[in-house]
Amino acid sequence: MNSAIILAAGEGTRMRSSQPKVLCRVLEEPMLGWVLDSVSEAGFSAENIGVVIGSGAEQVTEYMNKKGFSRTFLQAQRKGTGHAVMQAMPLIVESENVLVLYGDAPFIDAQTIRASLEVHKTSGNSVTVVTAEVGDPTGYGRIIRDKNGDFLCITEQKDCSEAQLAVREINSGVYWFSAAALAKALPQLGTANANGEYYLTDTIGIIRAAGLKAGIFRAENSDIVLGANTRANLLALNKIARERVIEKHMANGVEFICTDGIIIGKNVEIGAETLIYPNTILRGSTRIGTSCVIGPNSLIENTEVGDDTALNNVQAYDSKLGNNVKIGPFVHIRPGTTIRDGVKIGDFVEVKNSDIGEKTCISHLTYVGDSDVGQDVNFGCGCVTANYDGINKFRTVIGNHAFIGCNTNLVAPVEIGENATTGAGSTITGNVPADSLAVERTDTKIIEHWEKNSRRKRKI
Ligand code: UD1
Ligand code: MG
Repeated sequence: MNSAIILAAGEGTRMRSSQPKVLCRVLEEPMLGWVLDSVSEAGFSAENIGVVIGSGAEQVTEYMNKKGFSRTFLQAQRKGTGHAVMQAMPLIVESENVLVLYGDAPFIDAQTIRASLEVHKTSGNSVTVVTAEVGDPTGYGRIIRDKNGDFLCITEQKDCSEAQLAVREINSGVYWFSAAALAKALPQLGTANANGEYYLTDTIGIIRAAGLKAGIFRAENSDIVLGANTRANLLALNKIARERVIEKHMANGVEFICTDGIIIGKNVEIGAETLIYPNTILRGSTRIGTSCVIGPNSLIENTEVGDDTALNNVQAYDSKLGNNVKIGPFVHIRPGTTIRDGVKIGDFVEVKNSDIGEKTCISHLTYVGDSDVGQDVNFGCGCVTANYDGINKFRTVIGNHAFIGCNTNLVAPVEIGENATTGAGSTITGNVPADSLAVERTDTKIIEHWEKNSRRKRKI
């Protein structure tokens, strides 16, 4: 069995965040989440993934549990990357090969993990270091080779000679180890280096000295080395991730005229020929069908959208929107809503926890909450389902083809039968049978020759 150890004990003091560094977010997803997703995609199951935690241990554990991961190892004091890996010894001894990587380097991808394992196995290596060639190697451990170009060791920046400082091939911090070699090497680590830490990188010399093989896998994707220590670093990672995600969608046939203000979460799916307009944020598990027009100025979170649907200036959360739906401008779709095919929802409408049947029209200034609305229902302007009596919420049920007159209040619990009509301005407090008209308001009262009015007239 192969296992993965993610180092995530860092504090992130320079982020000035109350959260531990690995929970700082790129495209609104904690960096640790990116790494857990890639490791899972590479084929590891949750019980074979261990996370070394330290700073903000409770918060990290809580986040992991929410994502379905539970294996943590506490590093009470930070004494270096080697010391961090030592904490996961119970997982190492169960394994054949061990992948080590960082929880604050979000761009590691499943392809690099799989390809480096292949090289690790076929070369008979006891350790394979994943490296990258970078423009500016400052701060990274340099890959030192002998005269023949064979891999010798990793030397940290602070311990480098002038010549070594010029090396641009660096240690990404991702490694494959044979578990047996790692378990033997870790107890031999010392702290005789510029930082006085247990360096994981020193395991390479120890493994080689034992007559075992240390090799290299140079990653094509040099973004895997990128991490963040400051808010500015985090912004730079966001920029890269945002562009990368947009490029992926363009390759799938999604259209962008201009990408200003467009932020698409890493797990969002979008069908071909959908057009995304500026200032649109698509988040979480959102899935959008083909040939839709989304935006401008929209925020869609954990929502499924069918094909040929247009959302203009819409906010939608935890909902399901069908095919051929037109929503907007200025519409709020709150959690638990299902909007079925062919529905039209116009300006200043809010829908919450409701099911709106096919081809129903809610064109303007209306609140529909906790309601089950049939097909082909028409809401006039300014209707309200009064769903809350201050203590409890109640449902409104509206049958197919009903016509809700302008400015109707439907005081729940209430049922409007199929094909029924409510008169404009009614406050409906009782059930309305099918095919009937309900008017619940006072009749017109005429007061003739009203004095105030005649006074106004004289003024004019
Ligand atoms: C490390 C490598 C360096 C490599 C670089 C890539 C060592 C000695 N050096 O350096 O060769 O180029 O990563 O980014 O390994 N961590 C813990 N507990 C600790 C120390 C670190 O969990 O006690 C975690 C950190 O939270 C971080 C990761 O390990 O996620 C790397 O630690 P960091 O201190 O940033 O290592 P570098 O000095 O950057
Ligand atoms: Mg670092």
